[in-house]
Amino acid sequence: MAKGRKNGLYSGISEELSALMRTGWADTERHDLRLGDQAPYAARRRAALSARFPGERLVIPSGNLKTRSNDDTYPFRPHSAYVHMTGDRARDGALVLEPRADGGHDAYCYQLPRDGRDTDEFWTGATSELWMGRRRSLAESELVLGLPCRDVRTAAADLAAASPAPTRIVRGVDPALEAAVTTDEERDDELEEALGDLRLVKDEWEIAELRKAVDSTVRGFTDVIGELSTAVATSERWIEGTFFRRARLEGNSVGYGSICAAGEHATIMHWTDNDGPVRPGDLLLLDAGVETHTLYTADVTRTLPVSGTFTPLQRTVYDAVYDAQEAGMAAVKPGAAYRDFHEASQRHLAARLVEWGFIAGPAERAYELGLQRRFTMAGTGHMLGLDVHDCAHARNEEYVDGVLAPGMVLTVEPGLYFQPDDLTVPEEWRGIGVRIEDDLLVTEDGHENLSAGLPRSSGDVEEWMARLAG
Ligand code: GLY
Ligand code: MN
Ligand code: MN
Repeated sequence: MAKGRKNGLYSGISEELSALMRTGWADTERHDLRLGDQAPYAARRRAALSARFPGERLVIPSGNLKTRSNDDTYPFRPHSAYVHMTGDRARDGALVLEPRADGGHDAYCYQLPRDGRDTDEFWTGATSELWMGRRRSLAESELVLGLPCRDVRTAAADLAAASPAPTRIVRGVDPALEAAVTTDEERDDELEEALGDLRLVKDEWEIAELRKAVDSTVRGFTDVIGELSTAVATSERWIEGTFFRRARLEGNSVGYGSICAAGEHATIMHWTDNDGPVRPGDLLLLDAGVETHTLYTADVTRTLPVSGTFTPLQRTVYDAVYDAQEAGMAAVKPGAAYRDFHEASQRHLAARLVEWGFIAGPAERAYELGLQRRFTMAGTGHMLGLDVHDCAHARNEEYVDGVLAPGMVLTVEPGLYFQPDDLTVPEEWRGIGVRIEDDLLVTEDGHENLSAGLPRSSGDVEEWMARLAG
């Protein structure tokens, strides 16, 4: 009798049970699968990557399940570079671009195949299909991804034994594959930079996915507002759960931990504990985004008066942030320096803070010295896509020091945050935090605000809340 696991309620597996489990299963191989919609786009992305690294072997793993404790794991999410280059979201996969003599590459994909029925593992293993759900067979993956697929269980040995070629791998994703190849950290960083560069301009398939992410997010915000006037929406956790339900219903999940920050929590940039009350008279800063099934995320913020109307002081702060956002968005167009939108927003915030007497002027000097950052610490936005802070590894000259081009998608999200213990502002200002964040697509002649479905100005927000409170 094979031994059972420690503290398992079954002491073991009898030979008869083992034999019984291995027989009597139907062939469920699927022959109806077709090439995924994303496959031709992923092929073009691979061609662009291939052109950058002639003669070199490139390994881009998807990653493995991460243990939470014992045999419990965190929800799996593949590495974004793998998703971008394959359109796949399976765990334990790896894309390999194998160099050819003509300078191009042959692409193939390692995948974890279906469980065989020839060992007990298929019904006893905590990460097996019977416990976690069906996977695709290698043949099925080939149909869907349009790539030759191989069994990942031999990947480390294959790579270790492969013919010598300069190799690069995306580090920090799959320790076993990383140990199987000999690479250089600096050169691996260049691969990651190139993968970041290639995600700066979204193709039409990605833009359609980002539209879906934003549209679902608009519905999630609408759900929250519909609840604000009810007796149950008195805690940040309720707000978080309300948005999360929409994210799980229409997408994969949220694209990052939702920030549901009421009252003075709104002054905390990345408040995700969400364990505070939501009180009438407070502002609620909701920063949340739905991630699609294909793993593209929105990133939207609205700051809402819980009672439906802003107090005069809340409106003063809100309108200043709104004007800063307007100034920033006006600078989003092809050919503009990426930094322009940030600088326009920050100049505006610096001028208002000087006007209010919170920082020393003149405004341009305050801006040059960055004094406004006491009340607005972060940059005014970032690229958006598979990651909320997308393309983080792209080269500076292509990203922050680069130029906007059609197909880029970025957030514009100025904010003002008066900390509750800030003695440099009058008491009534302390604890007020406002951010307004939208997702902009750079077009041929300017930009499109993908999140325009959510009202933005203070008057429009109030009117919208009144309508939804019905
Ligand atoms: N939600 C994080 C950010 O706005 O960048
Ligand atoms: Mn953002
Ligand atoms: Mn955000």
